[in-house]
Amino acid sequence: MNPFSRIILQWYSENARDLPWRRTRDPYAVWLSEIILQQTRIAQGTSYWHRFMDRFPTVQDLADASEDEVLRLWEGLGYYSRARNLHAAARQIVADGGFPDTLEGIRSLKGVGDYTAAAIGSICFDIPAAVLDGNVYRVLARHFGLTTPVGTTEAKKEFTRLANQLLPADSPAQFNQGMMDFGALQCTPQNPDCLTCPLQDSCNAFRTGRVEMLPVKKPAVKVQERHLDYIYVRCEGYTAIRKRGKGDIWQGLYEPLASENYFSQGSAKNQFSEAGVTLLRMGVRHQLTHRLIVADFYLWEPENRPELPEGYFWIKETGLDRYAKPRLFELLLEALT
Ligand code: ADE
Ligand code: SF4
Repeated sequence: MNPFSRIILQWYSENARDLPWRRTRDPYAVWLSEIILQQTRIAQGTSYWHRFMDRFPTVQDLADASEDEVLRLWEGLGYYSRARNLHAAARQIVADGGFPDTLEGIRSLKGVGDYTAAAIGSICFDIPAAVLDGNVYRVLARHFGLTTPVGTTEAKKEFTRLANQLLPADSPAQFNQGMMDFGALQCTPQNPDCLTCPLQDSCNAFRTGRVEMLPVKKPAVKVQERHLDYIYVRCEGYTAIRKRGKGDIWQGLYEPLASENYFSQGSAKNQFSEAGVTLLRMGVRHQLTHRLIVADFYLWEPENRPELPEGYFWIKETGLDRYAKPRLFELLLEALT
């Protein structure tokens, strides 16, 4: 075996993180952990993993649940398409008679990309497929002195090829997870621990003094900023919400009145100069993948229930808990109290 991979395996045998989904090879449990960890840190994701495993111990239980319940359990994690895909894939798996055990089969599940398929395939079925996540990119870029900007298709090809060359065919699970843990604990983004690093002697970045310069990142695309007014209407203990529709970042989640759809022109500020409206908070910033939302929150307390725009309905305020909400709506509710 090449020295790099030997050292990673050795390092992993001494430093592997004790994570609950590493105590099983149940593909359902591992799949769930990988979907959660796609955009969530381990510290936060772990409690959600337990929550899901407690409520849905098997893929059948998840498939039997309603999408509303799955979204509610997911609440707080963001990137809700993950939850919708998880639920759809569970039904796909049940319909197909069990969890797929080939790379192509796993890759065909909704919400599973190259990274997640390689992770599940290697961990649960010993399939020799290398994973590439941010940690792996960083370790490879530094150790081998690779300067192709991460985030380009060229880098993906180059790094995938190298990672698969390095992958020991008889221990893909240990190597993949070793690379991820090594990147998370030793070769960290800031202040990597080069002085105690077992790869120091062979590390190109260390030898050439380029540790801080690698990996090279592709310049980030500028995110577009969007303004949003959220209006919490309160009337005799009732409030109005609607469910976001298909093809939407918040598909399946519930939200309060928004000036975008409630008022055709002008901001809520103008519309509500008098009529029982209080400004709760201004300029609440919420970062999504491709946009930054800057929101103003209002409380509107009309004397009589106004007519609602299409799709909205009244619910008791005490029943709000039963609806999965985007983070911004939660922030509004916090501003209310
Ligand atoms: N991040 C996502 N999946 C992981 C895994 N299996 N091991 C370590 N870090 C991870
Ligand atoms: Fe990473 Fe430093 Fe080790 Fe090189 S020597 S692999 S940069 S921790």
